[in-house]
Amino acid sequence: PSLKDVFADHFKLGAAILSNEVEDPNGPDAQLLKKHYNSLTPGNELKWDATEPQEGVFNFTGSDKIVEFAEENGIAVRGHTLIWHSQTPNWVFYDDEGNLASKELLYERMKRHIETVMGRYKGKIYAWDVVNEVIEIGDRQPNGLRNSLWYQIAGEEFIEKAFEYAHAADPDAILYINDYNTHIPDRRDAMYDLVKRLKDKGIPVHGVGHQNHISITYPSLNEMDMMIEKFRDLGVRQEITELDMSIYSNDSQSYETFPYELQVEQALRYKDLFDIFKKHSDQLDAVIFWGKDDLNTWLRTFPVTRNNWPLLFDERMQAKLAYWALVDPTKLP
Ligand code: G3I
Repeated sequence: PSLKDVFADHFKLGAAILSNEVEDPNGPDAQLLKKHYNSLTPGNELKWDATEPQEGVFNFTGSDKIVEFAEENGIAVRGHTLIWHSQTPNWVFYDDEGNLASKELLYERMKRHIETVMGRYKGKIYAWDVVNEVIEIGDRQPNGLRNSLWYQIAGEEFIEKAFEYAHAADPDAILYINDYNTHIPDRRDAMYDLVKRLKDKGIPVHGVGHQNHISITYPSLNEMDMMIEKFRDLGVRQEITELDMSIYSNDSQSYETFPYELQVEQALRYKDLFDIFKKHSDQLDAVIFWGKDDLNTWLRTFPVTRNNWPLLFDERMQAKLAYWALVDPTKLP
């Protein structure tokens, strides 16, 4: 069965990919994507370092490939990401003399970047991660916000500007604030407070994205449930934007092959997780995996190089127990 069909009454089912996975539009990777997913996220191709490596010099080679493939096959696309502290070229933050840019210069660059990137895909990308990973809890973090160069130059206002420019660039796009570990109460509440401040000021923020790079043992299902429930009264849309489930509980573990008992454990946990997602499907618009198969996963290189099996299809794109847990749990042992 097709994953997207199984969840059609609940939410979109998606995967992040890199453009090489759709190089051959009829190859095995493309076939898997067409069969199972109705939302795709370019994993790296829409980040600032890819789209505008030098000031005013734009490059859409990778993102065009993915967006065209999606269009031809009636698949929706999520835009990831416009404003981030990482994978952003240094020139963005400095002036010609090498000093930290003024707020005005920073906003000029931000506006042109957002207008150009969103403008190109107007009507083709339904939702955008306008800002990514701005929450950071710690003694030196103001307001629960990351003390990034964006923040150092412009304060919390940079987030407001980003949403305003994005809304002007494509008034129909659903505008997301996206972050990791939003199940941790301090981070979740900082995100809640930030979104509330933005909404109270009339800033066009429409959705909260939960990355959800989780593991077989962490976090608890209750925390996952509370993570979504928390935002209900803010009247925002929500998406699970980067789901995967590492089989490891710490950085020193490493398996040559995927132990059978962990395959079962992972499958059961995916099932429990999707039961929670379904419970919230009135607010949840999409569940997106960060990769379509266990060969194409960032977790094989980070935090250490080792095998990992975090997704629903294995290295040879064969359905795993985790897949069966979602489409037909009677097939589980
Ligand atoms: O393409 C080059 C290749 O030519 C080169 O040989 C190789 C050697 O290092 O690097 C390749 O580029 C890598 C790229 O992924 C493509 O695989 C970069 O080094 C590597 O840094 C980059 O990592 C990406 C990471 O973001 C960077 O922060 C991952 O693919 C991508 O999956 C990951 O995605 C992030 C989300 O954007 C935000 N949330 C967390 C998530 C996982 O870290």
